[in-house]
Amino acid sequence: MSKNPSPLDHETLPICELSKKFKRLRLFEPSLGVLGFLFVTVCVICCFFYLDYRAVAKGSYRVPGQTERLMWLKLDGSNAKIKRVDFLGEKGNSCDVFNGDWVWDEGYPLYQSKDCSFLDEGFRCTENGRPDLFYTKWRWQPKRCNLPRFDAKVMLEKLRDKRLVFVGDSIGRNQWESLLCMLSSVVPDKDSIYEVNGSPITKHKGFLVYKFKDYNCTVEYYRAPFLVLQSRPPAGAPKKIKTTLKLDQMDWNSGRWKHADVLVFNTGHWWNYEKTIRGGCYFQEGAEVKPEMKVEHAYQSSMETVVNWIHNEVNTSRTQVFFRTFAPVHFRGGDWRSGGNCHLETLPELGSSLVPYGTFAHSKIVTDVLSAHSNKSVDMKLDILNVTQMTAQRKDGHSSLYYLGPSEGPASIHRQDCSHWCLPGVPDSWNELLYAFFLKREATRTTNQ
Ligand SMILES: *[C@@H]1O[C@H](CO)[C@@H](O)[C@H](O)[C@H]1NC(C)=O
Ligand SMILES: *[C@@H]1O[C@H](CO)[C@@H](O)[C@H](O)[C@H]1NC(C)=O
Ligand SMILES: *[C@@H]1O[C@H](CO)[C@@H](O)[C@H](O)[C@H]1NC(C)=O
Ligand SMILES: *[C@@H]1O[C@H](CO)[C@@H](O)[C@H](O)[C@H]1NC(C)=O
Repeated sequence: MSKNPSPLDHETLPICELSKKFKRLRLFEPSLGVLGFLFVTVCVICCFFYLDYRAVAKGSYRVPGQTERLMWLKLDGSNAKIKRVDFLGEKGNSCDVFNGDWVWDEGYPLYQSKDCSFLDEGFRCTENGRPDLFYTKWRWQPKRCNLPRFDAKVMLEKLRDKRLVFVGDSIGRNQWESLLCMLSSVVPDKDSIYEVNGSPITKHKGFLVYKFKDYNCTVEYYRAPFLVLQSRPPAGAPKKIKTTLKLDQMDWNSGRWKHADVLVFNTGHWWNYEKTIRGGCYFQEGAEVKPEMKVEHAYQSSMETVVNWIHNEVNTSRTQVFFRTFAPVHFRGGDWRSGGNCHLETLPELGSSLVPYGTFAHSKIVTDVLSAHSNKSVDMKLDILNVTQMTAQRKDGHSSLYYLGPSEGPASIHRQDCSHWCLPGVPDSWNELLYAFFLKREATRTTNQ
């Protein structure tokens, strides 16, 4: 594991310098100005200790200012007396890796967007003019164990002759592109990585299959924001019904997913009124369109279809199946149409998070279905990438104004993207968790052989 230097190193430096300077000044030219300077310095130092004291006294995560935030992080580092086990070791089996903190790590980011040609413009925040870089420097640290440090060579070697498939909405695509960058960073010949059908990466609605030639492996993305099938309504349906979601059938492409070696699902951002019924997309079960059905109910029903499909169609001894939970959005003062913003956020929310009401209900629909099923069937293994809580703290990680190319400049302040993520950034951390579970599974596979 890399060590975890404190960002406070940068903060304290100026003060040490100031006091040195002060000592020199006092010796040679005692004047009113110098006394004033002394006063200010003492105030600053007292202030510092006061904040420090408060942070200790309260032990709370309430973080009114940047200084105290960073202070808290230092305390976290120096107080790290809990003995953490290695997640990949035997003792790591019971570790809840989703319970942890974001810690500053100078070893991050894992790649630079300018070195990665597999990124959509919309995720290239730095290149699009985002001025701050703090958001690239946070590492996820579980409370009770240490994750393996991401090693692209190890992952590629273990993926040799295999298929890793992401299925879901554009946030799934966000994560897929992140993994492409993380993996390709160790491949010197970038031309040896290519889309098998020659499709360009941008503005693509179907699926994309990237091959790493030297490893004979593919990392694929299938766009299926609902996971279930969206298609034409039955004949004779009322005019207002433009399409229907067949809640009991999987997406057209599901046949291409089931033999993958690693399968990563996500869904959620399209399960709302705006992206379904308001656009004339209704819910259908069997031959029957159900205009009265509520979105939550349809969502739950579709999740049951997904889980049954995994159970019946996927050999989970062979295919490692993940379900990544909902990634919260952070629009403040509106939503994406009504001027909601997140462009002033440069630091994570280290305490309780400010996410919209309903976020956790959203991921609960999924986890309830999954856990009910895993109770019923012991032979179906499924890993939940329970990222909702940790991601809720990362209001600083979104594309905000910086999703347009450098020539178009920052977007209008009223048109922000507070749902997708800058890369490098938060989805890299989801992929580090994916990596940890992948290695763990590979390790048990080897032991069993
Ligand atoms: C997800 O993680 C959070 C935070 O550790 C926890 O409160 C929640 O119960 C977890 N949910 C599931 C389904 O594991
Ligand atoms: C490449 O991997 C596929 C499985 O994804 C396998 O069927 C094929 O034989 C492999 N090709 C070579 C040259 O090893
Ligand atoms: C599932 O995969 C395992 C491991 O590859 C294999 O041994 C087993 O026969 C498969 N089961 C079915 C039903 O195909
Ligand atoms: C699953 O089983 C556990 C213990 O056997 C129980 O506590 C839990 O409530 C069950 N979950 C569901 C969703 O039925």
